[in-house]
Amino acid sequence: MPLELRLMAKDDAQEAAALLVASYENNAFRAIVYPNGMSKASIDKIVEGRQKAVDDPDKYLLKVVDTDNSDKMAGCAVWEYTKAMTDEDWERARNEALDSYPEARHDILGEFVAKEQDSKRRIMGHTRWFELVALNTLPQYQRRGVGSMLMKWGIEKLEEMNFPIFLVSTDQGYGFYLKHGFKEIERWEADMSQWPPGQGMYKNVFLTRMPSGYAARSS
Ligand SMILES: CC(C)(COP(=O)(O)OP(=O)(O)OC[C@H]1O[C@@H](n2cnc3c(N)ncnc32)[C@H](O)[C@@H]1OP(=O)(O)O)[C@@H](O)C(=O)NCCC(=O)NCCS
Repeated sequence: MPLELRLMAKDDAQEAAALLVASYENNAFRAIVYPNGMSKASIDKIVEGRQKAVDDPDKYLLKVVDTDNSDKMAGCAVWEYTKAMTDEDWERARNEALDSYPEARHDILGEFVAKEQDSKRRIMGHTRWFELVALNTLPQYQRRGVGSMLMKWGIEKLEEMNFPIFLVSTDQGYGFYLKHGFKEIERWEADMSQWPPGQGMYKNVFLTRMPSGYAARSS
């Protein structure tokens, strides 16, 4: 099963969106937040966003394909070199974050989104950073190094650009990110049983990774 890392093209956006949805099939938080799954309108919005991102010089869309299986997409990632945020930008981002997914349970998602936006604002302030916006491997390709190929690309870019990486990890991604040298900053943790039929605890963790020369440069 030879796997190859490539840049995504606009034509890949539909397959990438389907891959994203499939990769989350066992995600307990998403099952509660999207009780009827993601709407076609939301998936179309993801496709449109990915197509636009291909032309954006500050966004990097990558895929790993299985060359033994007609170049089927096994995994994909979106990295973004963010702009410097003003206080007004932060306010706008917080307000807009929920609007993207009208079918989601906003009573649950709203709590998480508010925490995510506030954490990012506190940690990153007005500096630019490198963000892993999405990382997904198809279930049948997981634990075969696909995610690591996409992550290795980002870590090399981080060293070259000399900016911190910020990301929000799912429960499932947490072990993966620790293995790749990320440090936990804070977390949002919830008892899922408060939202039947949810069960057990669930966490989204905010993590960063600094380029090797960063501490020396900024001190
Ligand atoms: C997180 C995810 C991207 C990892 O992708 P992957 O292609 O399976 O990752 P790799 O095969 O490169 O894993 C490398 C190492 O990370 C760690 N790792 C990967 N998945 C893990 C998991 N579910 N639990 C604990 N550690 C894990 C392991 O140490 C693994 O090495 P090993 O298999 O030799 O033990 C994938 O599980 C996924 O798409 N999950 C659903 C979507 C999601 O939650 N994405 C993260 C968004 S923040």
